[in-house]
Amino acid sequence: MSRGPRRLRLGVLVSGTGRTLENFAALARDGSLHGEVVLVISSSKQAYALERAARLGLPAFALPPGSFPSEAAFAAEVYRRLEAARVDLALLAGFLARLPIAERWRGRVMNIHPALLPGFGGKGFFGLRVHEAVRAAGVKVSGCTVHFADDEYDHGPIILQRTVPVFFEDSAEDIAHRVFEQEEVAYPEAVNLYAAERLRLSDGRVQVLP
Ligand code: GAR
Repeated sequence: MSRGPRRLRLGVLVSGTGRTLENFAALARDGSLHGEVVLVISSSKQAYALERAARLGLPAFALPPGSFPSEAAFAAEVYRRLEAARVDLALLAGFLARLPIAERWRGRVMNIHPALLPGFGGKGFFGLRVHEAVRAAGVKVSGCTVHFADDEYDHGPIILQRTVPVFFEDSAEDIAHRVFEQEEVAYPEAVNLYAAERLRLSDGRVQVLP
């Protein structure tokens, strides 16, 4: 008898407003996400995401990278917290700190980026800056990318992408809004594919199994 997808223990890493966190928590509650958020880590004490986490009753900690003697010490503490909470899958959700991926966490840390990677991503490409660059380039489609994280910002094997049209009249805010609607679908979909063991990593690419 098939056991069906397992319910993952999810750790969500935030720096900003926490809409992505809120979406995960809502979908976990209504049962459409094969996982539950068991830990929230913020890279900033001021992140609005921490208020959301408190309201949602989720255990949350602020770990500002600047309060550690080195990036390695910061990363070690992040992994220590994830492992203490027995997290299966870590989800970067607007996390602005660089997190070097420990060997044992390769293929277990996902990121979402609000553009079609490898375009319009990397250090400094966050928030409206991404959509301003998309608008300035005059591209006719944008979208979002969910990928396994590696040691570079917005880089690593792509799991899935969703596209949106970009119109001449669009402001960066218009594009951001349209893209975020797709992010709310794409990220949970990637988590559910992982829970169903349908993501196979080979040679730096992800095969989505039927
Ligand atoms: C999301 O749009 C996410 O794609 C983006 O940050 C936003 C977080 O919003 N991530 C990046 O730009 C990664 N380079 P939120 O804090 O409201 O969830």
